[in-house]
Amino acid sequence: MVSVLVSLSGVPRELAEGVAQRLGLRMVTTSRKVFPDGEQYLRLDPNAVRGSERVLILQSMFPEQDSKWVELLLAIEAACNYASKVALVITYLAYARQDRRFLDGEAVSLHALIRSLGGWCVDKLIVIDAHKPEAVLEAAKEAGIEFVNVLPFSYMVRKAGMESGIDFVLSPDRGALHRARELARSIGVGYDYLEKYRDRITGEIRVEEKVLDVRGRRVAIVDDIVSTGGTLAKAVELLKRLGAVRVIAVASHALLVGSAIEKLRGAGLDLLITGNTFIRRQTVFERMKVIDLSDLVANVIASAIKG
Ligand code: R5P
Repeated sequence: MVSVLVSLSGVPRELAEGVAQRLGLRMVTTSRKVFPDGEQYLRLDPNAVRGSERVLILQSMFPEQDSKWVELLLAIEAACNYASKVALVITYLAYARQDRRFLDGEAVSLHALIRSLGGWCVDKLIVIDAHKPEAVLEAAKEAGIEFVNVLPFSYMVRKAGMESGIDFVLSPDRGALHRARELARSIGVGYDYLEKYRDRITGEIRVEEKVLDVRGRRVAIVDDIVSTGGTLAKAVELLKRLGAVRVIAVASHALLVGSAIEKLRGAGLDLLITGNTFIRRQTVFERMKVIDLSDLVANVIASAIKG
């Protein structure tokens, strides 16, 4: 049985408290400091974790991905000193988009990250909408960790009260098709995908023109991440050109870096529905609805960890 939930610095308070409350877990915070040379220090209250058969650690890895990763490793090391099993819930898994060597000689950051979680007492890894779940699954398997991917699209759409406001679902690239399928099937509409190409050196995005039957329809674009907004903006522009009357986006992790918001406004995006998968600072986007995912996460934990 899980008895203790350790919430690390990347997790929104309402998410951690919601999960703890729904699962009846004691929430333990950590003492952290940064030494003058920049190194992190972490301490768990030993009385809170001693004797727990399983500890649940929650972390989100945005912003400041590197320090969130180190904090996670320190928490795992400390927890494994007291508990026999640790389950991780990572609400935003950073370093996941580099999941293979696109160019010869590149480092595969996903492998570096997942392998660093192995060799302790971590036996389960639950991630909200990992970029490429099959790549995480394979890496986690090699590290001896069971992996569970959580698709939050139909949940977010329902919570936003939009189930009857979508006629068609589109993924901006082939890799996100499983996301479109999850949402489309749950609300009973059709779905399709676009072909997207990214220049591996310049990062420039090109979305291939495609004939889609969207004239007069309300379309939802689904994706895992909105970072610079380039991918989403291109897809919105295409849909509007093809006559869609309303284009919304449902994205698990709206990082919205740089001029993303201006791009999305300029493209004519009507609404962005996203999850509270990290602590959002300063972003003001009047067309964004942030959905609390604590119920969904608590249910997934309950079924992934049964005893
Ligand atoms: C890439 O394949 C991802 O699924 C997202 O489409 C991508 O990360 C979005 O990035 P950006 O907003 O910078 O275009």
